[in-house]
Amino acid sequence: MTNVVVVGAQWGDEGKGKIVDWLSERADVVVRFQGGHNAGHTLVIGDKTYKLSLLPSGVVRPDKLSVIGNGVVVDPWALVAEIERLRKQGVAISRDNLRLAENATLILPLHRELDQLREDAAGTEKIGTTGRGIGPAYEDKVGRRAIRVQDLASPQTLGPKIDRILTHHNALRRGLGQPEISRDKLIAELTAIAGEVLPYMDVSWELLDAARKDGKRILFEGAQGALLDVDHGTYPFVTSSNTVAAQASTGSGIGARLTGYVLGIAKAYTTRVGAGPFPTELSDAIGEKIGERGREFGTVTGRKRRCGWFDSVLVRQVAKVSGVDGIALTKLDVLDGFETIRICVGYTLDGERLSRLPASTSAQANIMPIYEDFEGWSQSTQGARRWADLPAQAVKYVRRVEELIECPVTLLSTSPEREDTILMKDPFV
Ligand code: GDP
Ligand code: IMO
Ligand code: MG
Repeated sequence: MTNVVVVGAQWGDEGKGKIVDWLSERADVVVRFQGGHNAGHTLVIGDKTYKLSLLPSGVVRPDKLSVIGNGVVVDPWALVAEIERLRKQGVAISRDNLRLAENATLILPLHRELDQLREDAAGTEKIGTTGRGIGPAYEDKVGRRAIRVQDLASPQTLGPKIDRILTHHNALRRGLGQPEISRDKLIAELTAIAGEVLPYMDVSWELLDAARKDGKRILFEGAQGALLDVDHGTYPFVTSSNTVAAQASTGSGIGARLTGYVLGIAKAYTTRVGAGPFPTELSDAIGEKIGERGREFGTVTGRKRRCGWFDSVLVRQVAKVSGVDGIALTKLDVLDGFETIRICVGYTLDGERLSRLPASTSAQANIMPIYEDFEGWSQSTQGARRWADLPAQAVKYVRRVEELIECPVTLLSTSPEREDTILMKDPFV
């Protein structure tokens, strides 16, 4: 039985939520394995729109088990609020369909504050984080002083752990001219929320092992995108986790060989939210038009997303690094009606041609895209559900994308709606 990993192949917001929701019809378990509530995944099902940040996108379908794996950083207050929000939309959430890894790291209010303080202090050097405390929480995880989900279950041992994390954070806060955090207040806050989170606590690796033995299909839902990966992305303008497909294994506790088919999600153009290099960015009327047609505003922060042409160099590189087996190309409909469509096929830097993204930040900022121009199509692809319904030029565009990224396009998305999806190759078989 094949499992599937869905990962972003650009800078996030590629439409992972829509694709995971659509694929989850044929999955039994949907697992998040990294990131936190910096993610914003939008699902449009009939007249209902769901916006998910921490909950796996399978949660809206009854009878699917959603697992928040150990690689996720979990803000317990955000989790409880999201569960409440989804319940109000009529989604049933209980231990029957949601489990949270006992060894997942918690995001505390002090992480959110530190994230925002650092961004405020950075002036023009801002990363443009989502301000959710993601970076500081991962730092504490790697620094071996994090509070984890299972710590909430043993209040008697919480004291020394809080002392250790506060020794670090209060020193930082003194340096930033901020009041120290009260140990007793933090313990009281955690104790108060524990009862709402602990009912979901479970052992992620054991759950997945059992699912596998029972022949169940597991769908791993990535957040962010490979260009925001802390190793492989546009460092330091990245998030603080590994976002490539390999993380599905370590972030949930399943063997590396068992995570299955890797489906990379890429938009038919490119967007980025937050600061950092973006070679094909369009700061003109065309960029504005793509943003308007694609409704490119962040799900989490409401920020306007930067827009540009499809960059085949980046997606080709990501496909190799993440081991992508097939690409789901989304938002093809947004390109309807453009007279000319451009694809970046290489870069120049100081007169030299490059066929990959250089690692240096200054080189990344200074590379110039080399474009191949394409005749657009005037017909609508919006809502197309069959390959045969696509205009010939759109088919040509997709075929050229495949050639350039050296990876097949196995799925196409033509609107936000769940069913407006064209499947060329089933990733589950
Ligand atoms: P994610 O973070 O990768 O899950 O993506 P987001 O949900 O943040 O952003 C993608 C946006 O594009 C959402 O508003 C989706 O409803 C929308 N979307 C997804 N696929 C398509 C598509 O094929 N066409 C159009 N027009 N919109 C889409
Ligand atoms: P989804 O899952 C797009 C970006 C932020 C910022 C950088 C670091 O919806 O695709 P962080 O708060 O993670 O420390 O911010 O990463 N970022 C995203 N951009 N989509 C996301 O998630 C993102 N999550 C983080 O804008 O540039
Ligand atoms: Mg998003």
